[in-house]
Amino acid sequence: MEKLLVRGGNKLVGEVKISGAKNAAVAILPATLIAGEPCTIENLPDISDVKILIEMLEELGAKVVVHDANTITVDPREANSFHAPHGLVKKFRASYYLMGAFLSRFKKAKVALPGGCKIGPRPIDQHLKGFEALGAQVNVDSGEVELNSAKICGGHVYMDIVSVGATINTMLAAACCTNLTVIENVAKEPEVVDVANFLSALGVSVRGAGTDIIRIEGKEKLGGCVHSVIPDRIEAGTYMVAAAATRGDVTITDVIPKHLDPITAKLRESGATVEEGDDFVRVRCNGNVIKGTDIKTFPYPGYPTDLQQPMMSYLTCIEGTATVTENIFENRFQHVDELIRMGADIYVEGRMAVVKGVETLKGAEVKATDLRAGSALIIAGMMAEGKTKISGVEHVKRGYENIDQKLNSLGADIKFIKE
Ligand code: EPZ
Repeated sequence: MEKLLVRGGNKLVGEVKISGAKNAAVAILPATLIAGEPCTIENLPDISDVKILIEMLEELGAKVVVHDANTITVDPREANSFHAPHGLVKKFRASYYLMGAFLSRFKKAKVALPGGCKIGPRPIDQHLKGFEALGAQVNVDSGEVELNSAKICGGHVYMDIVSVGATINTMLAAACCTNLTVIENVAKEPEVVDVANFLSALGVSVRGAGTDIIRIEGKEKLGGCVHSVIPDRIEAGTYMVAAAATRGDVTITDVIPKHLDPITAKLRESGATVEEGDDFVRVRCNGNVIKGTDIKTFPYPGYPTDLQQPMMSYLTCIEGTATVTENIFENRFQHVDELIRMGADIYVEGRMAVVKGVETLKGAEVKATDLRAGSALIIAGMMAEGKTKISGVEHVKRGYENIDQKLNSLGADIKFIKE
C-alpha cells in the first residue's frame, strides 16, 4: 500500500506555482462533448481525476490528443455513447456532469447514480430538478438515472439549495436549448463562472454567472474553442495555510487573489501577514503570535468548505481557542480523530468543532478519508515533531498536482513510500 511519509519541523520558504482548478476541469472536460468542433483545454491540472476523465472521453468515442501534462485537444464529433456505467461512475464521483452533457448532445442519458462519499450522502435531487425544468423526463431505476428530453426546450428553475454541481449540470443541459433558460438561487463559485465562460466560447449565450441568476440561450450547433482553466483557489489556499502553519514565508503564484479573499481574511485575523499582488499572494508569520479565529463554511464568497480541514490543522497550535463550523456537508470532520491522535485538543458538537491550541503536534500513523482530509494531515505532519505516516494517499493524488515535489521545493520533507 502506498503511504506518505512526512518529517515535520521544517518551515516552508520560497515560491510555488498553482495549477488549474480541479473543480472547473472536471466539469469542462465532459462539457467538450457538447462542442461541434475540437476544443483545446489549457492549464489542466495533472491529477488522477483529469486522467480518468480523458479515458472516459475516449471510451465514449471522442478523440483526445494529449499535447503535454496540462494541455489536451478533444474532438467530440465521433462520440457516440450516452451511457456512463456504474464502474466508470464509481471511480469518479463528478461523472454526474455527463448527464447534462449527454442531454445537450444526445437528448438522452443513462448515468449510474454517483452515490455518497466520506463527507456526506451527496444527493443529486437538485441536478434532476434542473433537468426536469428543462423538459427532460427523469427515471431513476436500479441505481441508474435515465434522462430523455424529446422536447428539451429551456425553462425556469429555482434551486432549493445552492449547489455547485446542480448549477453547472443545468447549464450544460441548457447549452443546446434555443429557448431561454433561467436558473435562480445558483452557486457563484469561480468554477461555475469558468464553465460559463467555456460555454460562451462555444457560442452559448450565458449571462449572470457569478450572480444569483443565470440566463442561458443555447444553440443547436456549437463551435469549438481554446480555453485555459482558472487557477485552483483551493490548492492555492492549501499552500497559504501550510505556509502559516509552518511559520514559513511562501509566495504562491499564478493565482487570482480575489478568489482567495476568505482565506486571506482568516489568516490575517489569526495574526499571519498576507501580501497580495496581481497574480500572487505572499504568506508569512514574521514571528507574530498566532491566535484563534472562528471559521464558518458557506457557499462562495463565504469561507470554502474545501479549506475547512486544512485550516483546522493550522488552528491546532494557536494561542487560545477557535471554533470551526461546517455548514455545507454533513460529515466533514473525519480528520478530527486523526488530528487528536497527533495531540490536538478538539471536540465536536454537531456541526461545530472547538479547537483548543496546544504547544505542538506529535507525528503519528494517520488515515486520510478524503481529498481535503489528506491535505489537512499533510499540513499537520509538517507542523508536528517527528514522523507522520499517512495512508489513503490515493485521495490526495486526485486533487493536488505533484504535491510532494511542490512542498519539498519549499523545504518540506515528504515522500510517497510503499508498505
Ligand atoms: C462541489 O461539490 C465540489 N466538487 C466540492 O469539492 C465542494 O466541496 C462543493 O462543490 C461545495 O463547494 C466538485 O466541484 C467536483 P454542492 P458538489 O452540490 O457540487 C447538497 C473537493 O474536495 N446537495 O455544492 O457535489 C450537498 O449534499 C470537493 O474538491 C443536495 O442536497 O457540492 C451539500 O450538502 C469536495 N442536492 C450541498 O448541497 C443536490 O442535488 C452543497 O453541495 C446537490 C447538492
